[in-house]
Amino acid sequence: MVFLCTFEALVLPIMDQLLVQKVRDQFQEQFQTSPVVVFSPGRINLIGEHTDYNEGYVLPAAIDMGIVLAIQKSKEPYCTATAINISESFSFPLDQRTPIPEGGWQNYIMGVVYEILNKDRTIAPFNVVFGGNIPPGAGLSSSAALENALVFGLNELFQLGLSKMEMILLSQAAEHTFAGVQCGIMDQYASMFGKQNTALFLDCRTLQAEVIPFRNDEFSLILLDSKVKHNLADSAYNDRRNTCSGVAQQLGVPALRDLDVQTLLDNRQKFENDIFQKALFVLEENNRVLNAVIALRNNDLKTLGTLLFESHAGLQHQYKVSCEELDLLVDVARKSDDVPGARMMGGGFGGCTLNLVKTEKIDSFIHTAKEEYKARFNKAITAYHVTTGTGTRLIT
Ligand code: GLA
Repeated sequence: MVFLCTFEALVLPIMDQLLVQKVRDQFQEQFQTSPVVVFSPGRINLIGEHTDYNEGYVLPAAIDMGIVLAIQKSKEPYCTATAINISESFSFPLDQRTPIPEGGWQNYIMGVVYEILNKDRTIAPFNVVFGGNIPPGAGLSSSAALENALVFGLNELFQLGLSKMEMILLSQAAEHTFAGVQCGIMDQYASMFGKQNTALFLDCRTLQAEVIPFRNDEFSLILLDSKVKHNLADSAYNDRRNTCSGVAQQLGVPALRDLDVQTLLDNRQKFENDIFQKALFVLEENNRVLNAVIALRNNDLKTLGTLLFESHAGLQHQYKVSCEELDLLVDVARKSDDVPGARMMGGGFGGCTLNLVKTEKIDSFIHTAKEEYKARFNKAITAYHVTTGTGTRLIT
């Protein structure tokens, strides 16, 4: 699929051949051998935010931006990893058992290795070079893309026989143990299993997904990157997760997924209002996903849009994971007749808003958003026109 070229939206290549070449060349140069090469995409999420770790529903899709990773066995008794976007390289022993304090991408790499060894699979030292075209910090799950790319590459290289499902659970575990974020399964799932022109209606309890066709040329998906990432994000994320499991436990169910709104309302007096509102958000968001799937099946993007706006309102006022930058961008969308829906996307506290925009009005919408954002925060946003793409795969 080809990206529509618009004036205001930055358009990224489908699968950046130049990037593949660059990663391959760097690998050859650094290690004098030819590697196995993997592509793993980032993701968007149409709706269903903070529902995955409550064993509820989500509706994500893989995108055409991602990570290209080259990997081969090492002749040395240790592993070396190079991130070409930031020109950083580091070496580590295969049996590294602890994350680097304040570490970044290195922890995703070592976390995956740690989890593979934990599963009693045998691997040997390896070298890896990777680069990507996912805008950093935009909330498009570059970390899940990296974890999936690595586990996929190692599975191939050492013939580990892991299924895709085992691989994503391993990627998620790496994030828990080495990155310290108790994330759900949505990002890793979407990145691994994504399909072009579809969204994945995933039940995060059973891990069964239904593929929902998602393509309508009249409307496009535009991401507005606020370029902010407030630093409470990780601790606030884990906090929300604990709040949710606390409510579930107190009401005697395995997860919030098992409650309906009426039962929660009947038990309202057991909780402080702030906690009650957070739990209520999750139940309502879960219902919104179910309604969004119906809307998509009916090609009813107006209803889908309304659900997106409702989702944002809940994330802003009930779940409290938005921020003033994201709220302003969604307000700009609300004021426009050309945008049936928009919301913040991902964990929150920064990153992107997802906007469903009339294709012929993309430029004027982005222009207005840029102006208003600049006027209020004296900062620039970047806009991306995304389409859905295919999940983690080998590149030959
Ligand atoms: C992050 C996590 C996901 C999910 C979203 C919020 O992206 O990694 O598991 O919880 O936040 O929906």
